[in-house]
Amino acid sequence: MKKVITYGTYDLFHQGHYNLLKRAKELGDYLIVGVTTDNFDLERGKMNTCNNMMERIEAVKATGLADQIVIEEYRGQKIEDIQKYGVDIFAIGSDWEGYFDYLSEFCQVVYLPRTQGISSTQLRKERTVVNIGMIGTGSIASRFVPESKNVNRAVISAVYNPNIDENILFCHKFQIPVMAHNLEELYANCDAVYIASPHYTHYEYTKSALIAGKHVLCETPFVFSRTQAEELYTIAEKRGLHLQVALKTAYCPAFGHLFSLLKSGVIGEIVEVNASVTTLTDENSEKLNSKFLGGSISENACFPLLPIFKFLGTDFRDIHFYSKMKNDVDMFTKAVFRYDHAVASFQVGLGVKTEGSMTIAGTKGYVYVPAPWWKTDYFEVRYEDQNKNKKYFYPYVDEGLRYEIKDFIAAILTEGYYFNKVSKEENLMMAQVQEMYINNQNVYKL
Ligand code: CTP
Repeated sequence: MKKVITYGTYDLFHQGHYNLLKRAKELGDYLIVGVTTDNFDLERGKMNTCNNMMERIEAVKATGLADQIVIEEYRGQKIEDIQKYGVDIFAIGSDWEGYFDYLSEFCQVVYLPRTQGISSTQLRKERTVVNIGMIGTGSIASRFVPESKNVNRAVISAVYNPNIDENILFCHKFQIPVMAHNLEELYANCDAVYIASPHYTHYEYTKSALIAGKHVLCETPFVFSRTQAEELYTIAEKRGLHLQVALKTAYCPAFGHLFSLLKSGVIGEIVEVNASVTTLTDENSEKLNSKFLGGSISENACFPLLPIFKFLGTDFRDIHFYSKMKNDVDMFTKAVFRYDHAVASFQVGLGVKTEGSMTIAGTKGYVYVPAPWWKTDYFEVRYEDQNKNKKYFYPYVDEGLRYEIKDFIAAILTEGYYFNKVSKEENLMMAQVQEMYINNQNVYKL
């Protein structure tokens, strides 16, 4: 019996896929089809797939052409599959001509003609897009535009900055179709708004965008009071709009896996979380200006608050803050949280430098995430018996904003099938912690 194997993503299954499978089947008596996992696609930079792995497998199954379906999880698996299943022929479309010649050491390699004029990429482009209007043109906004290009169905359609000169420069540099002169013009040219303006303007802009009926992705820190955060959520919920805080760490693949791994108990009961984020900043920067709600807590606290709330919850007993002040802002703050059965702490700084790592301690072992842990791509689970230690690696491509943008678009387009990576309660509590600090609650100045 002649066995043939072929691989693909098979997203939005189309005629080109069908023709390829049919041709592959005709090369032998038994066809094995390898379908990539969602994680493997993510790892090799294909993060735009519309169908999940089960839907893609179902589509291949429905053709009746596959005698066996296997899943492709990692680079190098093809050789193992060929050996494991006793494959005679590896077949793939001619767009891969030459790329898989190395497999000829293990079986015959055949490049089959590709069907012209159709591809998943093309079909994805034809689907509804989400037009994003941006407010703000600073450094994070400049990183956001190139990152958004990696997310299918995300289109930056307009931009607004009350400073017209900066607006013109930004529009030119990134070729944004509409340079809005006011918010009305911005809203008229978008379905959703990304807010990357100075922190102290987040509340007003988010409220205005939601009232205009736009979904909102707001940069961190979201707002500085729990009441304001609650009000914004209420407006969003009443209008059926998606409100998301752009806390990039929460959306990156490694952090998601760290979360589920720890919830499954690999380090036992979690007893302590400690994380640091310090970024030395020019003293004249707005980030250190008290008039603009600058300071280390304001700028960086949402990052360590994420793992603290994710792993220990939001129901802490109290917090104490210890701040090194200069010109009325905290250049550095250490915060200590008391929970009933655990303790957490973080260090944030704009004028003091620390090691930017995170440790999560449990009754059976601990997790160490090296600096910069907030751009998680690697972590270690460590035990008393070092032979049991494990290292985990993940993709974190370029600026890493594409993951939050992908979730934002998915949440808007996939009605009702969505899980928020940062819950409403977590966002409300982050705003509350900012508020406690501003109100000098348990703040000790050094
Ligand atoms: N294929 C084909 N003809 C097409 C499209 C795909 O023969 N018009 C083949 C590919 O060469 C591959 C298989 O179908 O052997 C699965 O390809 P996949 O990457 O899943 O499909 P594409 O449509 O090429 O997807 P994308 O646009 O995301 O790259």
